[in-house]
Order: sequence, then C-alpha cells, then structure tokens
Amino acid sequence: MALHRPLLAGVLGLCAVLATPVSATAAPASPHAGGSSHHADSLRSLAAPIGLRIGTAVNTDQLASNATYRNITASQFSTVTPENVMKWEVVEPTRGTYDWAAADRLVAFAQANHQLVRGHTLVWHSQLPSWLTAAAPQMSPDELRAILRQHVIDQVTHFKGQIWQWDVVNEAFNDDGTLRDSIWLQKLGPGYIADAFRWAHQADPKAKLFYNDYNIEYTGPKSNAVYALVKSLKAQGVPIDGVGFQTHLDTQYPLPDLQSNLQRFADLRLDVAETEVDVRTTLPVTATEQSAQVAGYTQTLQACMAVKRCISYTVWGFDDGNSWVPGVFAGEGAATVYDEKFQPKAQYYALQQALELGKGAPHRTGIGAGRG
Ligand code: XIL
Repeated sequence: MALHRPLLAGVLGLCAVLATPVSATAAPASPHAGGSSHHADSLRSLAAPIGLRIGTAVNTDQLASNATYRNITASQFSTVTPENVMKWEVVEPTRGTYDWAAADRLVAFAQANHQLVRGHTLVWHSQLPSWLTAAAPQMSPDELRAILRQHVIDQVTHFKGQIWQWDVVNEAFNDDGTLRDSIWLQKLGPGYIADAFRWAHQADPKAKLFYNDYNIEYTGPKSNAVYALVKSLKAQGVPIDGVGFQTHLDTQYPLPDLQSNLQRFADLRLDVAETEVDVRTTLPVTATEQSAQVAGYTQTLQACMAVKRCISYTVWGFDDGNSWVPGVFAGEGAATVYDEKFQPKAQYYALQQALELGKGAPHRTGIGAGRG
C-alpha cells in the first residue's frame, strides 16, 4: 500500500472537491431509504452497470433504531449481510428453539430495498450457543454430526429462496494452512466441510454456496490450503459456488497480490467475493495512515472489479461508530468509510471514484444461481 501514497494524496485533494454533492446523498435528510430509486452517485448505482453488488454488514439494532443508519444502508448498498443475527448462538439460543425474528426483519428490509442477502454463517467455530459448546465434548461423532446437519438444513430451509450467497463454512483453516482444531474437526474429521455444502445444497439448490475466510487475500500457506480444498471439492462434485475473502486489512501489513489471487480461484470456475472489507489503523489516525486506508479501499475494490467472477464487494459495517474493530484490536479503529457522525470519509470517496473510473470493467454474469 505504501507504493500508492504519493499518487493518492493528489487524488484525494481532487476527490474532496468533486465529491461534495455526494455527501448530501448520505446525509440523514436523504430521501432514498425505502424506495427503489437511488442517487446516481451512490455506491450501488455506480456499481450496477458492471453487474457488481456492493454490500455492507448490518447491525440490526442500529437498523431498527437509527434512521440515518437505515437511510445509508438502503441508499448506498445493493446487498446486506447480517453482522450477527444469522449466527448459531442467535438463531438457536436454546436447543430446539429457533429465533429467526431479527434475521427475518433484515431479509424483509433487503427485499423492500431491492437488495440481495449474503447469509452468514452456517458452520463456524465461534459464536456457537453455550448449550452446544457445553455438550459437544461428551457427544458421540454421530450425535454431533446429526446436530450440525439439522442446523444447516433447518436454517437454509427457513431462508430458502431469500439468500443469494451463503457462507456455508467460515474460517476452517489456521494461518499455517492446517485445519483449525474446532469441535467440528475434532469430532467429525475434515469431511464435515463437504457434508455442510451438500446439506445446504439439498435445502436450497439455488443459493450460491461459499467458503469464507480471512488472511487468504494474498498467496501463502493459508490461501494455498483453501485453494487446494476448494479445488478438490469441485473435483469431487461437491456443490460449492464460491470463495469469500473477508479482507480485514490493517495499514501496517502489505497486500501484495490480491487480484491475481482472486483470479486463480476464479479460474477454478468459482465465483469470488470480498465479504468483510475494512482497513484499520492505529488511533489517532495520521494523514499518512489515512492515505494508506484510502489506498486499501481503492486496491481491494479495483482488484474485485478487474476479476469478472468477483460478484460482490462487501464492507464489514460502513460507519466507525458501529465497527467491530475497536473492540477486538486494541488501539486500532477508523476502519470503515463513514465517521462516527455518519459523514463519508475519503475512504468512501475512494470507492465512489474507483467505480466511476472503472466503467470499462468486465460485466459480471454470476448474479443468478448456478454452478460452473
Ligand atoms: C464479528 C462481528 O462484527 C462482531 O459484532 C461480533 O462480536 C464478532 O463477530 N469474521 C467473521 C465475522 O466472519 O462474523 C466477524 O464478525 C468478524 C470476523
């Protein structure tokens, strides 16, 4: 990212002038929420001509209580991902009792605003209900496998026809490329991954089924291991449609080869998506750090745009006030494209500008369901 800094400083100055009217689009008074017309300069409108979907993770408490949050969610984005409310601990807090209410509200919001939904996530080691983590160590493999199967089938069935992309398996690998030592691996062995895709496909044959992970944006042991896995799943006829690259970046780490890495997965006849983009830095943010953050957003979006099978670009929350980063990475933040007051930052304008300048990017054809 350091390479781009001098160039971006110039670009940014220009942006700040050109983009003034757009901040009005994002302001609370914007009339765009809930309607089907979106300002021509919104991210979703700018991405539409090349068939690219721009998404955000959604905090459903904010969505219910904050009109500004709601307006921006509706007007800027063409897909939404539930940040938490489709996770197992939320949908089945007590064994055998489902609570789909918050997730259903988000799906209804998406439909009212002509948005697609990324379902997140079916099989993960984290945010599991406590009844499950408490009981799992004593369960037989058959018993645990039946529980996982039921979970995947019930959840995918509940949302059948309403989910564009499912993150079927999330974060199954360690950074060194070995499989994560989760309860799933421990009890069921590595075959749980293929099984989960088969069950999800059985429950909703039209949903696009994704493997999703972090630190796989650049080549290295983890990305290579995911590549080997998905290649072998495809070879075995397992119904996998895509790979999600979370893309949680930090200005202190370089991002050498995102585009070519996305392309090698796409060359396996898989869709790819950037699913959880944010670019954090140490606080307080210096001008140099913000330039690097701007570069990070530009680079990640341009890489997706250049790869025809990159069908969506999703930020993990759009405003710094609701970002997961400060709570997880000590001393870091400012990772999103709007500030705490919902004012667009230079990072927002960088996305807008990349879309404006990228009208010649290949048109995506992978919006519907279907494999191959
Ligand atoms: C995070 C949420 O943003 C937080 O609100 C929650 O407390 C923990 O999970 N990778 C993922 C996401 O796949 O589900 C995580 O979301 C962030 C990392």
